[in-house]
Amino acid sequence: MSAGLAQAAYIVAALFFILSLAGLSKQESARAGNYYGIAGMTIALIATIFGPYSQGITWIIIAMIIGGAIGIYYAKKVEMTEMPELVAVLHSFVGMAAVLVGFNSFLAPPEYSGEFAHTEHVIHMVEVFLGVFIGAVTFTGSIVAFGKLRGIISSSALNLPHKHKLNLAAIVVSTLLMFYFVKSDGSLFALIIMTLIAFAFGYHLVASIGGADMPVVVSMLNSYSGWAAAAAGFMLANDLLIVTGALVGSSGAILSYIMCKAMNRSFISVIAGGFGQTVSTATDVEYGEHREISAEEVAEMLKDSRSVIITPGYGMAVAQAQYPVHDITAKLRAKGINVRFGIHPVAGRLPGHMNVLLAEAKVPYDIVLEMDEINEDFPETDTVLVIGANDTVNPAAMEDPNSPIAGMPVLEVWNAKNVIVFKRSMNTGYAGVQNPLFFKENTAMLFGDAKESVEAIAKAI
Ligand code: TAP
Repeated sequence: MSAGLAQAAYIVAALFFILSLAGLSKQESARAGNYYGIAGMTIALIATIFGPYSQGITWIIIAMIIGGAIGIYYAKKVEMTEMPELVAVLHSFVGMAAVLVGFNSFLAPPEYSGEFAHTEHVIHMVEVFLGVFIGAVTFTGSIVAFGKLRGIISSSALNLPHKHKLNLAAIVVSTLLMFYFVKSDGSLFALIIMTLIAFAFGYHLVASIGGADMPVVVSMLNSYSGWAAAAAGFMLANDLLIVTGALVGSSGAILSYIMCKAMNRSFISVIAGGFGQTVSTATDVEYGEHREISAEEVAEMLKDSRSVIITPGYGMAVAQAQYPVHDITAKLRAKGINVRFGIHPVAGRLPGHMNVLLAEAKVPYDIVLEMDEINEDFPETDTVLVIGANDTVNPAAMEDPNSPIAGMPVLEVWNAKNVIVFKRSMNTGYAGVQNPLFFKENTAMLFGDAKESVEAIAKAI
């Protein structure tokens, strides 16, 4: 393939990626968005592999078959609830790839000639240094995010003494090393020391962020992985990689910003590893007794209601309760009861998690409302079913300024006449904080697996 044709193919691929992002922004067009992405990536791969600068095509294809097979196996095997973990691991690969490309490009640098050869060489050295730095931070940051999502690493925020000074020192020392690296015309020692500092910096940055802010961290790492890819694009002088990296980097940054707004978190605080955050220590508050209820009693209560709101959370995903939830919704609607869903922006473990599950079970889109659209309707609601949600319906976020989730907007379910909470125990949710909702007078607990409980209610109705 000629250089001109490969370049033209790159432009077409970049357009497909832009169309893909546009498609993914709406539920109705998300499927088309995925297809655009696949088409763009196929064109990009063909143009690169058969392009003018590739060598050892057989090796590339063998590596692609092995990598592709592993990718397909894991993507098929992974549960919907494990998706953020998979995404975190994939981000770590992008980070490591940028580090390896950086070292490779340092050890076998491109030849520059002509008037600006020296300037181009210096620019290349800076690209290598920055690329390795961003890649290394993304690598260890993503590994920690994976560990926290998996529960291998504690989800509470690591709070080292002088943590912000440590972060600042890492940045200052790395900057000084960059000057030395350029001035010494490529000191391998400086590059290695910076890489080690960046690994530690990435680890510390994400470890310092508490579990409740993990959704933002995952999208932030998505953004970092984009910038790491763009940096690799500069090192390899590959325009498409620069464009794609910039698209991922900026869309990830916008998503992080939107999520920060939804959770009432400071964007700067989260990207700076919890900068300015006071880490509160849990206090043992006595909340009193909780009340239990049976599935049959809930069924009676639902039949006597005129208006019902269902607020699902992570537990609905774990139990795969969306299908029986659809059943009771249909049964109650057939009786003329107004049933709607209230979706918190970070319910579950990934953006849009609940919307995907409800769409899978064929719950009509028009009764699935966002938190802001439904929060004012709780006082006029007879019964709220909190199915496997916990943090997203926790009044402590509004009432307790010392709570780790303080300030996060929540679904104000306690304003309804009756609240039924479906869960298996009195355990805390993802953020690890107790929920005073469970002890309110108008709340009753329905213990057990959410799917079994909802099925029992459907039977009783
Ligand atoms: P959580 O606060 O995580 O609570 C889920 C509840 O479901 C748990 O209390 C658990 O209680 C219950 N549960 C688990 N399995 C169940 C089953 N089989 N049957 C019945 N109940 C079950 O959920 P949430 O309200 O959706 O909040 C989401 C949390 O995850 C937030 O803190 C958010 O910041 C965080 N997060 C979100 C994202 C995104 S992007 N959405 C990403 C990462 C983290 P039992 O163990 O007692 O059953």
